[in-house]
Amino acid sequence: FAAEKGNHRHYMIKEIYEQPEVVARTLAPHLDIEQAPALDWKAQQRLTITACGTAFYAGLVAKYWFERLGRLPVEIDVASEFRYREAPLPEKGLMIVVSQSGETADTLAGLRYAKAHGQTVLAVVNVPTSSMAREADLVAQTHAGPEIGVASTKAFTCQLATLFALALQAGRARGHVSAQEAQALAETVQRVPGLMHEAMALEPQIEALARDLAKARDVLYFGRGAAFPIAMEGALKLKEISYIHAEGYAAGELKHGPIALIDETTPVVVVAPYDHLFEKTISNMQEVAARGGRIVLITDEEGAAHAHIDTLATLVLPKMDPLVAPIAYAVPVQLIAYHTAVFMGKDVDQPRNLAKSVTVE
Ligand code: G6P
Repeated sequence: FAAEKGNHRHYMIKEIYEQPEVVARTLAPHLDIEQAPALDWKAQQRLTITACGTAFYAGLVAKYWFERLGRLPVEIDVASEFRYREAPLPEKGLMIVVSQSGETADTLAGLRYAKAHGQTVLAVVNVPTSSMAREADLVAQTHAGPEIGVASTKAFTCQLATLFALALQAGRARGHVSAQEAQALAETVQRVPGLMHEAMALEPQIEALARDLAKARDVLYFGRGAAFPIAMEGALKLKEISYIHAEGYAAGELKHGPIALIDETTPVVVVAPYDHLFEKTISNMQEVAARGGRIVLITDEEGAAHAHIDTLATLVLPKMDPLVAPIAYAVPVQLIAYHTAVFMGKDVDQPRNLAKSVTVE
């Protein structure tokens, strides 16, 4: 994974395409119980997570996983808030920081605060020689390789893969996941790289869609459950590289504000794997459609068959366990942002005003 573009037009698209391989490479050691960081999951009453930007959204997805698989309550906020709010932390608690660079100033300050308050800190980082890796008690490395595009892509999905494996360990150690279930879930997540590879086949359809999205002034993204952070990540990617204003919302919040923005000029991207919340999300989208909203539905075959709504585009992913869907559903939202920005002639690898790593406040 040398830091060269090879045949690709930009680093960002090269890094999007690398994901099946780097996610597989990241999963292997973390699914190996022998190599897992020695954490006392059983003793924890609560887990604290902090991070910035895209890494924060990885942490938000992980909240759903730790709570579901480990029955472990998670408190999470962005590091710029966490570091200053003098949060009371559980005695001998556990803190996870998530960072590609391992150098983000606020996240590093959050790590130091946690250590100073008696927490064991686990750093999920991509750079093993970074400040966070050095200062944390334990490190779970993501093996994304060097990420050059300012907008994070492969580091994000590798963070998700690592956090899923950690949540699985927590579930196992806390007795909420049986050995048999753990084995099945490990196999499920190991199939994700193949599914991400299949998701790349959506690229021509997304390229065509991007021409439409490029005309928008605002784009809204919606999702429920663990798809909600993916909606926020999709919105973040789009605004970062295309400069189109975009917001990610929990679909259930539609009536609490965003519905006021719906009209023919504001595309709505909805991240909706066919899960137990699908029908609720679709009923929100019917409200959007009734107000002339143009919907981009990201779902699977079953979801497409059950949606019964008019869409601007329906992007159909392969069928997968909804639990691991956030990892694979990251791909289409990345491709939407990439192709929209490229069509608009923007510099996707070096977007204006943004830095790869924010090492000062
Ligand atoms: C910057 C980058 C983002 C990244 C965030 C956190 O904003 O542009 O892509 O998600 O920092 O960086 P970290 O290195 O801590 O993951």
